[in-house]
Amino acid sequence: MSAAPRSSSGAVPGFVPADVAVPADVPAVVHRPATHDVALGRERARQRRLLRLAAALAVAWVWLVVRAWQGRPQVPVFHVDPLLLTPVLFFVALIALLVGTQVGAGRSPHVLFRPEQVDVTLADVIGIDPIIEDVRRSIELFWTYRQFADLMGGSPRRGLLFEGLPGTGKTMTAKAMAAEAGVPFLYVSATSFQSMYYGATARKIRAYFRALRAAARREGGAIGFIEEIDAIAMRRGGLMSSASSPADLARGATPGPVRHAIISEGTGGVVNELLVQMQSFDTPVGAERFAAQWRELVNLFLPAHRRLRAHPGRRAPILLIAATNRADSLDPALLRPGRFDRRLTFPTPDARGRRALVDHFLARRAHEADLDAPAARDRVAAATNGWTPVMVEHLLDEALVNALRRGAAAMSFADVEHARITELVGIGHPVTYTEGEQRLIATHEAGHAVTAWLVAPRRTLEVLTIVKRGSALGMLAHDDGEEVYTHSSHDLRALVQIAMGGWAAEELFFGDTTTGPASDLAAATRTAAQMVGAAGMAGSLVSFEATGRDVVEAVLADTRARDRLEEVLDEARAVVRRLLAANRDLVEALRDALLERHELVGDEITDALDAALAARLAPAPSPGLRIA
Ligand SMILES: Nc1ncnc2c1ncn2[C@@H]1O[C@H](COP(=O)(O)OP(=O)(O)O)[C@@H](O)[C@H]1O
Ligand SMILES: [Mg+2]
Repeated sequence: MSAAPRSSSGAVPGFVPADVAVPADVPAVVHRPATHDVALGRERARQRRLLRLAAALAVAWVWLVVRAWQGRPQVPVFHVDPLLLTPVLFFVALIALLVGTQVGAGRSPHVLFRPEQVDVTLADVIGIDPIIEDVRRSIELFWTYRQFADLMGGSPRRGLLFEGLPGTGKTMTAKAMAAEAGVPFLYVSATSFQSMYYGATARKIRAYFRALRAAARREGGAIGFIEEIDAIAMRRGGLMSSASSPADLARGATPGPVRHAIISEGTGGVVNELLVQMQSFDTPVGAERFAAQWRELVNLFLPAHRRLRAHPGRRAPILLIAATNRADSLDPALLRPGRFDRRLTFPTPDARGRRALVDHFLARRAHEADLDAPAARDRVAAATNGWTPVMVEHLLDEALVNALRRGAAAMSFADVEHARITELVGIGHPVTYTEGEQRLIATHEAGHAVTAWLVAPRRTLEVLTIVKRGSALGMLAHDDGEEVYTHSSHDLRALVQIAMGGWAAEELFFGDTTTGPASDLAAATRTAAQMVGAAGMAGSLVSFEATGRDVVEAVLADTRARDRLEEVLDEARAVVRRLLAANRDLVEALRDALLERHELVGDEITDALDAALAARLAPAPSPGLRIA
């Protein structure tokens, strides 16, 4: 598609007079990538560059021809006295050092990626389709900025805020956007704006925006990206600083100075600079500024009605994207319309998204045939509920490491499971317990598992272990069998009962309890407090969440709520005691399996329980046989 320069009538490059009728080459439809405004701008810039190169080559050629014609050497030779050269060099080095430090401290810290250098596309961003849809719309708006601004009178979108957990693909999406839009991508990490020189942070910000404007002019558009913007754009200090919206006040936030002001210049100045610069996308640069200065000068001599009018600068299509995982701590002024007014929240992918991610990541990684089965992939997706994409990717990398350790060249499903369990419960520390202690821990964990199996058949039992991991002597890892977003009161009661299982088993088998269940009881108390003080599941409908205080704290401080909490816990204890007393054999079976193997994973737990149940229903013909 040809894209002829729109105006070659000797106008200052970069100027499009406002009163000129809209040229014919503005695309009539919104989506025509080859002729969008950005491509046209880039083509014009390319032709200007070619002209300049041709001119420079012509000058060099003339020089060479003239020198040859005069019969003089092509490169002039100077003779310098070495005695003079040494001091001159010394002073030049000194001045360069002084100036260089100053200039270096105020240089823009960005990294520039050209669209063809970026190796990701929007198609590589998986599992967050609604976000990608929104992003595509932003790109179309970016492409047709001139149509939008000049024909339709809109003010183009300037800022996008990406928020979401680390590893949900914010950086990747921004990069892919630049590649998709075909414009340079100026990546900068907010922390690299900080400097030890006073005022240098603001200077760096100005330099960054200058680079952004220059790149946009040069290439027809540019996308800037500020990583972890919260490092420099926290709420400013001073009056009404930290509670400036009614929502904040309702949440009980009190006005006061910023507590996280770790930047020496005070975040105020930096945020101000950022705000000012975000308004500066249309200010003239380079030749335009030069022309504006001359116009001012000429106007001084002209009568008022004859003065040259300032042309509105050509709008540079610049999109600034900022990423953060703490959008609520950003300065509200940054989020107002015209700045980062569009907020995209990157969620963790749902089961379908994770399945697509597993497919995507496995496509590049060596795996055995068992991982090609859709059922196996579905299981990996189901078992990574709540994980971010980068965690899923890391899981498969860990599985590859496991395969390598085994001496295999490709990972199998078992490697993935192994890696997931390590991710879930940490790496085991080999410690040797005394025999009595080991028995106690095994009984305790078996108590949890049997309770879980009996009261919450829908929960998946993942790992049951008596290998020490972190500070836990043993543990039962279990989770919702499927993706759920709410829990019923029955589910929560079951969680409290599962937490009580260890305590009840110790009491039942040893007649005494230890410090082992302390953390279980804390977990049970927290769950019960949610039921009592937040979810209206234990009689009263009062919610302590409305106070803005910690629910557990509030429930424990209120005598009536505390009584209700005690009731929930007592009831759970009674249920679990009864349950375990009636199923002693199951606890014993699981305990023995644990003592023997130390760690049971997934089906191994349920298999042991099923076997014990079968043995109960059809007792062995004679115990003597087994001994023999
Ligand atoms: N939605 C996704 N689809 C595919 N890969 C992803 C996705 N999100 C994250 N990743 C992987 O995780 C890595 C880190 O993502 P990144 O964009 O840096 O996350 P963030 O900036 O949100 O912290 C990427 O390089 C990519 O390999
Ligand atoms: Mg990032």
